[in-house]
Amino acid sequence: MEKCLRYGMVGGDLKAFIGEVHRKAINFDTRAKLVAGCFSIDPVLGKETAIAYGVDMSRNYLDYKEMAEKESQREDGIDWVSICTPNFLHYQVAKEFLLHNINVVCEKPLCFTIKEAEELEKLAKERDLVFAITYTYTGYTMVKVAREMIKKGEIGKIVNINVEYAQDWLIDSLDPKNQKATTLSVWRSDPKYSGISNCIGDIGTHAENIVHYLTGFDIKRLVCTTDNYGMALDLNANMILEYENGVRAALWCSQVACGHLNGLVVRVYGEKGSIEWAQEHPDYLHVTPKGEPTQTWARGGSYTMKYDAGHYSRIPVGHPEGLVIAFANIYKNVITTILKKKNHETVTEADLDFQNVSNGVDGVKFIHKAIESSKEGKWVEYK
Ligand SMILES: NC(=O)c1ccc[n+]([C@@H]2O[C@H](COP(=O)([O-])OP(=O)(O)OC[C@H]3O[C@@H](n4cnc5c(N)ncnc54)[C@H](O)[C@@H]3O)[C@@H](O)[C@H]2O)c1
Repeated sequence: MEKCLRYGMVGGDLKAFIGEVHRKAINFDTRAKLVAGCFSIDPVLGKETAIAYGVDMSRNYLDYKEMAEKESQREDGIDWVSICTPNFLHYQVAKEFLLHNINVVCEKPLCFTIKEAEELEKLAKERDLVFAITYTYTGYTMVKVAREMIKKGEIGKIVNINVEYAQDWLIDSLDPKNQKATTLSVWRSDPKYSGISNCIGDIGTHAENIVHYLTGFDIKRLVCTTDNYGMALDLNANMILEYENGVRAALWCSQVACGHLNGLVVRVYGEKGSIEWAQEHPDYLHVTPKGEPTQTWARGGSYTMKYDAGHYSRIPVGHPEGLVIAFANIYKNVITTILKKKNHETVTEADLDFQNVSNGVDGVKFIHKAIESSKEGKWVEYK
């Protein structure tokens, strides 16, 4: 019986942001080893990354297509690939590995078009491959506890939702003299690399996803306004989402909200109470039972252990966890699922608690509907 997996990575060189977070998170549970990679657009940096992680030079590839081909032919080939490149490569890289029957973990947003997203979903399903999307915030223990509380009806029937994801790192784009520099240095602002949206694709999708994760609600229609401030793509968006059951959510995302760093905040209001979770204080969940004062629940607190999700906590109460552990919780379930499939064991619903290619399709749909609504200035139906 296999106990340890082998994985490869595309993107994520030593200078990149998210690839390093993936590697640290995977190492947390020491059940997978990095053995192959096509880490960079820059071959020197790619080689340095391979050396830093002890990847054999014969498995340090310059081209992801060669990597998929060669790894699929090896007895000891990779069990999955983690895709940590800019958005424009997700579709082609994911498709290549799926076609070689290799499981995929892909960054969000899944890809550029709904057609491409559905094609990837179909391929993964037909070939019975695991396809996870790293919607980071679904990995936090207190988000999982909130989800379970909502599922058990502890805040009652949901009546309203409010979600925001505000940052200010592109604030210089508001100054016309700075716009060129920002465009050149940041791929997220360039439609060629980012797709039809910047802000909605980069962070609005996290906001859309966390509400779906917490409530299970599916969007029926939405109305959206975007602000580009003279840039090619959106930097700020305000929208109303209406779910299939009639509940509505206000969603705001921004990269030019002065004073906000990585401010994902979600509030779910029910007939019997409400919950509020903020990414910058992820170990805490604010719970307000109707008619009572607001309580601050701490990750690892004994009262969270009555929830299955409480057990995701890895460090005693009061000692901060964070982004890497949220990622580690996602990978824990992905690795368990791939291992169980490999060992012909039964995969449980709990193992499958990670966002998958269908959630990725939802994300791409959300981006397209939001941009369509902002262009047409009206509500846009999902079906
Ligand atoms: N889940 C999250 O919370 C989260 C956070 C940040 C970024 N992201 C997503 O992660 C992805 C990467 O973002 P980032 O901030 O790490 O970007 P980045 O620019 O820091 O890194 C991109 C990496 O891709 C590599 N790359 C580019 N073209 C390549 C090619 N043809 N072959 C191999 N490697 C190639 C680059 O060399 C670099 O290593 C994006 O899709 C982004 O949306 C997700």
